[in-house]
Amino acid sequence: MSTYFVMFYLFLIVFIVNVIQIESSAHVSVNPSQKAKMVKSYTVTILNHDLKVSCQRGYSLLNNFLINNAPIHTTCGGHANCGCCRIRILEGEKGLTQPNEREVKRLGKDLISQGWRLSCQTHSLRDITVHMPTSNELDPECSKK
Ligand code: FES
Repeated sequence: MSTYFVMFYLFLIVFIVNVIQIESSAHVSVNPSQKAKMVKSYTVTILNHDLKVSCQRGYSLLNNFLINNAPIHTTCGGHANCGCCRIRILEGEKGLTQPNEREVKRLGKDLISQGWRLSCQTHSLRDITVHMPTSNELDPECSKK
């Protein structure tokens, strides 16, 4: 009987502590400049298509382009195999993730040094400006979906 009594009081204490934590976290105020930093979106300007795409951090550029119906090509579905999703970064390359092994293997160091990236392997934290190749600039295989 006393064991149940102790367990009940322990449960009650844990419950009260959790309620206090929830209440105190609900009243945290965020000033406007902090809110601006918390916004997890950025804009990709696709210069040659005269398009601006609002993108979410945490998704690859390819996924953001697909979500926004941008005219990106892919035949491998984002696995760094086809090379059809390549874009050339014109501005903002410092906000991008570093090329990974698969990207370097598919594109090669020369193209990467010229600003080309696989959008399926690249994430951005900031606004960028890119050139997105049209189907005429890509391999014929890239037009097959
Ligand atoms: S989607 Fe195929 S390489 Fe990026």
